[in-house]
Amino acid sequence: MKKPNISVLGIGYVGLCTAVGFASRGYNVLASTHDAEKAVKINKGIPPFHEPNLQNLLKEAIDSGHLTCLVGETEKAVLQTDLTFDAVGTPSRTDGSIDLQFIETSSRDTGKALYQKSAYHVVVIKSTVVPGTTQDLVKPILEKESEKKCGTDFGLCMSPEFLRQGSAFEDTIHSDRIVIGEHDKKSGDTLENLYKDFYGKNTPPTIRTTLSTAELIKYASNSMLATKISFINTIANICEKIPEADVKVVATAMGLDKRIGPLFLNAGLGYGGSCFPKDVKALIAYAKNLGYRLKLLESVESINKTQPIKAVQFCKELLGNLKGKNIAILGLAFKADTDDMREARVIPIINQLLKEGARVSAYDPVAIPIAKQSLQTKSNTPPQPLNA
Ligand SMILES: NC(=O)c1ccc[n+]([C@@H]2O[C@H](COP(=O)([O-])OP(=O)(O)OC[C@H]3O[C@@H](n4cnc5c(N)ncnc54)[C@H](O)[C@@H]3O)[C@@H](O)[C@H]2O)c1
Repeated sequence: MKKPNISVLGIGYVGLCTAVGFASRGYNVLASTHDAEKAVKINKGIPPFHEPNLQNLLKEAIDSGHLTCLVGETEKAVLQTDLTFDAVGTPSRTDGSIDLQFIETSSRDTGKALYQKSAYHVVVIKSTVVPGTTQDLVKPILEKESEKKCGTDFGLCMSPEFLRQGSAFEDTIHSDRIVIGEHDKKSGDTLENLYKDFYGKNTPPTIRTTLSTAELIKYASNSMLATKISFINTIANICEKIPEADVKVVATAMGLDKRIGPLFLNAGLGYGGSCFPKDVKALIAYAKNLGYRLKLLESVESINKTQPIKAVQFCKELLGNLKGKNIAILGLAFKADTDDMREARVIPIINQLLKEGARVSAYDPVAIPIAKQSLQTKSNTPPQPLNA
């Protein structure tokens, strides 16, 4: 079987790992971004962010000619390929709902390309979008711009991504499961065949379902993981009040129960990053729109908000008044092995420490350049002594 040519729209963590993954298995991949600086780096084989094991594979993909990154040429990327993964960003709005403007733009550009194309093409939404987005937003845009019919002239699927930053490439090539939300059987068959060819004998368990169910699976999964984190933090907060109670032992013993499992039971500062906070908020906002209040997730979010401030309270218990105290922060990014500062837990901690008059020095093995920008823009406090 001839390998289909693949286009990838949006070349962030998900887009780049998808593009490099397919290119590393011999597919020809055209990526498209609006960010010229990012494209220049990628075309030189330099990842635009820190992600273990990506550098060599990206370099190989570029050097072998299997991957090229275009700037602002979505139509060209779609026209010259057989299947498109759309992995553009879906950031939070201030009310917690997701901003779909990038999905709208990329769908419009994809539709314009489909207008010029006679061959069958499948569009796959990989970005995290709330239920109904692919059917009610993406499909009408594609049909309007292409003047073609979804399901007959072109295909449409929603296949959420479950990678974890820090092991993003590993997760892309060794996924726990594949979810294919399909508009119609032919679209689903085309995508499933691609995944089967890509993973070969190691094809993960594959769930084929409706577009909305696939969209919800992603939110349900991330909300469950966020819930585990807020749950164990609640237990940790009780442990603080019980003499000799140790949350680590509680978590280890709980994790041995197969029904619970050991992962995501590390008590700490709470969850951060570009996904959990955004996805929990988006599901709450989405449900509110449907007239259903997600009280469980509201609590998960509220526990997560107060958890980092507990670290500052501990400092005060140990050191008294923090004015003029020198405090070091080790580790800045939202987790190890990434330089992503989105919703990093140290941001509220540093802001609070500075507010209390402490002098803060911080170190991170990979995130310092991004942390400097991020702390400058996120901090509402006037300039204070912060050395990173
Ligand atoms: N980062 C993760 O760990 C992760 C995991 C699973 C799912 N997701 C989801 O995948 C999506 C992408 O996440 P990410 O972290 O890779 O995002 P990101 O912010 O790192 O990258 C998104 C990229 O899309 C580009 N873009 C925006 N509009 C475009 C357009 N019209 N054409 C081409 N490029 C465009 C942006 O310039 C940006 O580089 C989001 O919906 C996210 O929720 C992320």
